[in-house]
Amino acid sequence: MSPLRQALDAAAQQIRARLPAGAAPKVGLVLGSGLGGYADRLAGRTVIPYGELPGFPSSKVEGHAGNLVHGHASGIEVLAMQGRVHFYEGHDLATVVWPVRALCAAGCNTLIITNAAGGIDHALRPGDLVILSDHLNLLADSPLRGENDPAVGPRFPDMSDAYDLALRAIAARAGNELGLTLREGVYACSPGPAYETPAEVRMLRALGADLAGMSTAPEVIAARHMGARVLGLSCVTNLAAGITNQKLSHAEVTETAGRVRETFIALLDRILAHILALGAREPST
Ligand code: HPA
Repeated sequence: MSPLRQALDAAAQQIRARLPAGAAPKVGLVLGSGLGGYADRLAGRTVIPYGELPGFPSSKVEGHAGNLVHGHASGIEVLAMQGRVHFYEGHDLATVVWPVRALCAAGCNTLIITNAAGGIDHALRPGDLVILSDHLNLLADSPLRGENDPAVGPRFPDMSDAYDLALRAIAARAGNELGLTLREGVYACSPGPAYETPAEVRMLRALGADLAGMSTAPEVIAARHMGARVLGLSCVTNLAAGITNQKLSHAEVTETAGRVRETFIALLDRILAHILALGAREPST
């Protein structure tokens, strides 16, 4: 067996060994900056610190806890990443996406990937939640760079439907039911860690981006490589640089994420309820 497949299967095995007997989560959650609290309210929680799992890097960024949390929400079993690592922390992309790959290897064929982002589109306001329709990977790197392991995924994965249409419809419906008008948007992933300059934000808008961030795109590429379906959700924590006179800060990012915490929880709960109703389908690849 190929080395990556073998390492992923070993990681999946170690995860399963820590979960309650009979656990078989099909839905994975990646909880971004300030959004990790969702994992704290899962029912029947099992918490595994990343440091106890093979290959899982630990994040030093404030607002990113660093636990894999298993439990139930809306009656559906989930495996949640409470915190993630970023390219700007110095990890290579294979390391950045390792936890997402491990979730997929452990059986999650549907991933809900969340992040905090700056709003580029003029209609967006801090506190808005946005359904991702697509992304721009501006890292000039890919988690798939290097030798491909065909036992994990194809050399040239298709990215036409990177953000699953059915899951986007579910998210929109869940939003409607809560009285939220959720826009869709294109997420531009930049290397960071400095926020964009106003000129860069104008460039990103010209390129078709609605949201600016520093995560998600590599994870989505790795998840699609492994055939998982992906829903992406951004919390607009601030307007991107230059849109107003206000300066950007990580404190504002976590403060806004905290302010929409209850809305975010309600939305995720409802999305999961709809996914449960739909039944755990096989990945659409
Ligand atoms: N730019 C990039 N990443 C971000 C931002 C931003 O404005 N806000 C939160 N994450």
